[in-house]
Amino acid sequence: MNHIQIFIDGKEIECSKDEILLWVSLDNGIYIPNLCAMREMVGSYGACRLCYVEVKDEDLPVTACTTKVKEGMVVNTKGPKALRLARTSFELILSNHPVDCAHCLKSGSCELQKIAKCLGIKLNTKRFKKFLRDLPIDETSPVFIYDPNKCVLCGKCVWLCQEKLNTKAIGFAYRGFQRWVTTFDNEPVGLSECKDQIELVEICPVGAFVARDKWNKKISI
Ligand code: SF4
Ligand code: SF4
Ligand code: FES
Repeated sequence: MNHIQIFIDGKEIECSKDEILLWVSLDNGIYIPNLCAMREMVGSYGACRLCYVEVKDEDLPVTACTTKVKEGMVVNTKGPKALRLARTSFELILSNHPVDCAHCLKSGSCELQKIAKCLGIKLNTKRFKKFLRDLPIDETSPVFIYDPNKCVLCGKCVWLCQEKLNTKAIGFAYRGFQRWVTTFDNEPVGLSECKDQIELVEICPVGAFVARDKWNKKISI
């Protein structure tokens, strides 16, 4: 029998053995903050550390994107230990993020806005000192505008170009605060092999990749 029963926030859920907890939860209407996981990806980077949940009989919170469901599993997405870890991860992400939703084309569909609401954190939180980057906005692509300053390093665009499209056009460069997504020779992303990929706009959870046509409209208003 592949079908099992689990409980998330008290809701009884039927799912298949070995499914990933994050997708089971989202598919059943229970939101867990997440930035770096993708259904198409084999395995998860586990990079953003936002999807913490508590599982009964486990000492420490686990990341839902790397956890497989098990028969009878009891999950609490709002446990205090999990929320504390997720909130800290989120506030660290925000410490490098230039929050300017009023002028951002992703406003309304931005994952950061959704996560902030779920975790009860203000986007302009001041818990950690702000370190903003001042990288040039790339307007060279015919289909997208790329603002690396808004990137939250989720890795989805890198996965798209490297794994799905097999182009090797872009990747992560440098480490720590200097880390950013660029081409291997630091040419603009909009001139790379991925220059026509509107999918970059769709896959990016924040306002780092936005559609050029919307950008042009905004500029002409
Ligand atoms: S990426 Fe999201 S949080 Fe950042 S400015 Fe745009 S809408 Fe606001
Ligand atoms: S540009 Fe967007 S998709 Fe790419 S790593 Fe940054 S936030 Fe993620
Ligand atoms: S979605 Fe689980 S660590 Fe990013």
